[in-house]
Amino acid sequence: MTHRPRAEVADDRLDRYLTLRARSQHLVRDLSAEDQLAQSMPDASPTKWHLAHTTWFFETFLLTPHLPGYQAFDPRFGFLFNSYYETLGPRQPRPERGLLTRPSLQEVMAYRAHVDEAMGRLLASPDDSFAGLLDLGIAHEEQHQELILMDVLHLFAQSPLKPAYGRGPAPAPAPAPSPAGFVGFEGGLVEIGHAGERFAFDNEGPRHQVYLAPFSLADRLVTNGEWLNFMADGGYERAEFWLSDGWARVQAEAWRAPLYWEPGPKGWLAMDLHGLRPVDPAAPVSHISYYEAEAYATWAGARLPTEAEWEHAAAQGPVQGVFLGRGTPAPSPAEGDARTLRQMFGDLWEWTRSAYSPYPGFVSAPGAVGEYNGKFMSGQMVLRGGACVTPPGHVRTTYRNFFHPHQRWMFSGLRLARDGVAPPARRSAFEADVLAGLSRGQKSVPPKYFYDAPGSRLFEDICDLPEYYPTRTELALLAEVAPELSAYVPQGAALVEFGSGASLKTRQLLDHAPQIAVYTPIDISPSALEAAVESLSSDYPDLMLAPLLEDFTIALDLPDVAEGRAAFGFFPGSTIGNLLPEEAVEFLANARHLLGKGARFLIGADLVKAESVLVAAYDDVQGVTAAFNLNLLARMNRELGADFDVEAFAHRAVWNGPMSRIEMHLEALRDQSVRVAGRRFDFTAGETIHTENSHKFTPDQIARLAGQAGWALERQWVSGEPAFGLFLLVN
Ligand code: AVI
Repeated sequence: MTHRPRAEVADDRLDRYLTLRARSQHLVRDLSAEDQLAQSMPDASPTKWHLAHTTWFFETFLLTPHLPGYQAFDPRFGFLFNSYYETLGPRQPRPERGLLTRPSLQEVMAYRAHVDEAMGRLLASPDDSFAGLLDLGIAHEEQHQELILMDVLHLFAQSPLKPAYGRGPAPAPAPAPSPAGFVGFEGGLVEIGHAGERFAFDNEGPRHQVYLAPFSLADRLVTNGEWLNFMADGGYERAEFWLSDGWARVQAEAWRAPLYWEPGPKGWLAMDLHGLRPVDPAAPVSHISYYEAEAYATWAGARLPTEAEWEHAAAQGPVQGVFLGRGTPAPSPAEGDARTLRQMFGDLWEWTRSAYSPYPGFVSAPGAVGEYNGKFMSGQMVLRGGACVTPPGHVRTTYRNFFHPHQRWMFSGLRLARDGVAPPARRSAFEADVLAGLSRGQKSVPPKYFYDAPGSRLFEDICDLPEYYPTRTELALLAEVAPELSAYVPQGAALVEFGSGASLKTRQLLDHAPQIAVYTPIDISPSALEAAVESLSSDYPDLMLAPLLEDFTIALDLPDVAEGRAAFGFFPGSTIGNLLPEEAVEFLANARHLLGKGARFLIGADLVKAESVLVAAYDDVQGVTAAFNLNLLARMNRELGADFDVEAFAHRAVWNGPMSRIEMHLEALRDQSVRVAGRRFDFTAGETIHTENSHKFTPDQIARLAGQAGWALERQWVSGEPAFGLFLLVN
């Protein structure tokens, strides 16, 4: 071991001390003297008090006992700025720190200068018997730096002016992170807690063994967007998610959202150090109590990690994170590789389900410093990882923060945990969409999930039903106008069909426009696509087939063989009616980019007609449409491990006049609870899952939607009753 010269060690110590003190003062540089005196609640202290108290700590624990001849700046300050040390005598009551108009802020700054000068002399001395106390004093002031920001935010949040603490621009909303995955840990007999020479608070040791059953941790923090789903699902209204004490708080304090959230004209706003701004769904949810974190985890079919699990997992990676830096602190959305633990340090303190209690073998140090942590070991819960307001270098893997379960003004968030090692498979889009849809006030599942293999077969049966006129009517109209249409199809064209299913109507085009060289059917159902390709390849041997197994509503690239050819788009069947108007415009605009300049696009759309005709088409006497709708529940049972009792739901088809659409729903026939992908969803009798819209149009509406997406309507053909239209668009 090499020994560094004493003078160098002393320089280092002084450097650390002065950097610390400068940072505290930097943090308050834009605050007025009034800002610094105000105390917005009993738990929070005025900034001026923090600046003085941290100074008192150095004076009391280092200068008075260790610097010979040191004169206290003002002996009365012991009463004013002692926080909670019983050993050191009586003190200003905590909730009344905001009454200390004297000493002035200027006098507090003079106090800091006096102590800093004396600390300079102490740190220059060769004696280092106080090294441990210096580390403690530095770590202590770092904790108060974080408290300053917490308390200023709380104070500013009470102000009707909603001032911003920071000067720089607020971060722009980020793209939503992918659904959280889980990282598995085998556990076993592991060690946690601090050991070794480096500084740690007394409560972090002794290092000891704990047994961990296999567990999984989410690979990121829970986001505001996910929290909004919890709220939309009655998170703050349903006692079943809450611990008894938590539910009592929800009632007593009328909690409806995290602290600092308020409803705005266009959605929720939240106060942070940048001021009041719209809640960013991608950012991690912050300022929640233990009770809220616990309720969310219960709602999500998960739990909070224990502190030992968290530490064991965190110990496998570096202590890396955002922490308090130059810009205005804010927790960042998750970035980087999913399936690795992200945001473990420096975004938000993470609630654990562990009560703050002594580790085996822990004893408080004798004297006043022994009051630092040990005496708070009751009634509080542990948080881990540090936050964006925590000074860099302050936390460790073993660091234990603690707060009462109802407190929310710290930068606290949550990460989910589960028992057992989660299977590696990432949540499918189906699972994610179903969980999101069933979490809404009006439960819903997107209609594209009707089309698994049984669903696609049932849809073909629907097309043959006497009541279901659209397929038959459209086919007849196509047969009639196909010779005319052929004139609009260029030589060597690529025919691109969106949601092609069995590709039956396509044959009308292929038969009348032999100049089509390539056919690209796009469909989400592998079975439908395979069957269509197989039968077309034998019936049209010269046609190049380039299928795309995709959700046709998302922007796509054409296969190579279709690229560079004149494109002719085809979107029959009135599938456009299954999109909301804004989705239809987005889809049409995407299709316009995909098909290119000069392209034509033929769309089949069902037209408005008598309600009785419409309802019968979606509620046939043989019950085929009912089976098609109910298959969605069976599919969730098959693919998502759901336990729907299919018999306990009924198919409903209703005409929604104002929205000009047939709606399909699945209605719960009795109160029931269903588990889907590990989450519980409750249904009351009569409640529905909205599974499909089928909009019915006038020709003008189609022209308007097309126009909004940049297409021009070139021609249209409308069948006799029941009316169905074909619309030819040009780009
Ligand atoms: C695919 N789509 C256009 C059909 C429709 O009419 O909306 C789906 C369907 N749903 C019930 N019957 C048919």
